[in-house]
Amino acid sequence: MIDELMQKEKAQKVKMETTKPVGESVKLVVPHTEVEMSAVQKVKVKAEGVCAWFGDKQALFDVNMNVNQKEVTAIIGPSGCGKSTLIRCFNRMHETVPTARFAGDIMLEDKSIFDPKLDPVVVRRRIGMVFQKPTPFPTLSIYENVIVGLKLNGVRDKKVLDQAVESSLRKAALWEEVKDSLNKPGAALSGGQQQRLCIARALAVELEVLLMDEPCSALDPISTSKVEELIHELRQNYTIIIVTHNMQQAARVSQKTAFMLNGKLIEYDATEKVFTNPSNKLTEDYITGRFG
Ligand SMILES: Nc1ncnc2c1ncn2[C@@H]1O[C@H](COP(=O)(O)OP(=O)(O)OP(=O)(O)O)[C@@H](O)[C@H]1O
Ligand SMILES: [Mg+2]
Repeated sequence: MIDELMQKEKAQKVKMETTKPVGESVKLVVPHTEVEMSAVQKVKVKAEGVCAWFGDKQALFDVNMNVNQKEVTAIIGPSGCGKSTLIRCFNRMHETVPTARFAGDIMLEDKSIFDPKLDPVVVRRRIGMVFQKPTPFPTLSIYENVIVGLKLNGVRDKKVLDQAVESSLRKAALWEEVKDSLNKPGAALSGGQQQRLCIARALAVELEVLLMDEPCSALDPISTSKVEELIHELRQNYTIIIVTHNMQQAARVSQKTAFMLNGKLIEYDATEKVFTNPSNKLTEDYITGRFG
């Protein structure tokens, strides 16, 4: 997407340079570019002045962030800087911690996720999460693991469930590996397969945004690259926010990168910019390994 935009911008520049006379025609060209850019980059999730506390301890300070639809946004920063807390605010999981408090707002498209008419369970279906350690239900079969959310929704039709299992496992790039063992327990799969099973479980409901909290940190390099490929595929249809300590991974999979430090969002920009020409000295120090 960034490549596309850069090319568009380049094309636009050429157009501007060759447009004559200057004056009026330049003015016409520039707004056109802006309209085109906003058309492809629709904001899916918006954090507005987000602050979060655990008891008296403040973990997030006035975080403002627009997450674009059908893009991968990476969140990086040293341990304890608030990455997990931020993404747990994005689907109302923060409030499940007894001492937790929250201020600010999170918008999903044009609606607050805190709208009293919106059930937090529905929010968590639309904005699902995959954790560092794969969390399949160990005694449930692979099949049952995928449809657990649908069953909670009251879906009972075997045909509908069968279809959902196949399509979700296909989307999670796991179908070919498990199609002959759908009745085996989820725990019988490898770590990487379990992680993809959890992704399939999230995809089986009306998922729009996938939050991933260090999804590869417990995986070997081959499983990691499978999950990264999958992220790339899923971006065609979903908005993805991934927390990672692996800077190469952030650079490989994301279009936008957010750098956090001490509960604050320090820099948020195109991934290429953050990694090659960061605006903030703190970002530069972090990505060059001077701290963290
Ligand atoms: N359940 C909790 N109770 C109390 N404090 C918490 C809780 N969870 C997180 N914190 C505190 O909030 C701050 C942010 O933690 P968070 O887990 O968001 O960091 P992180 O950036 O995800 O770190 P890591 O990279 O180690 O996962 C830390 O100071 C942490 O100690
Ligand atoms: Mg964390």
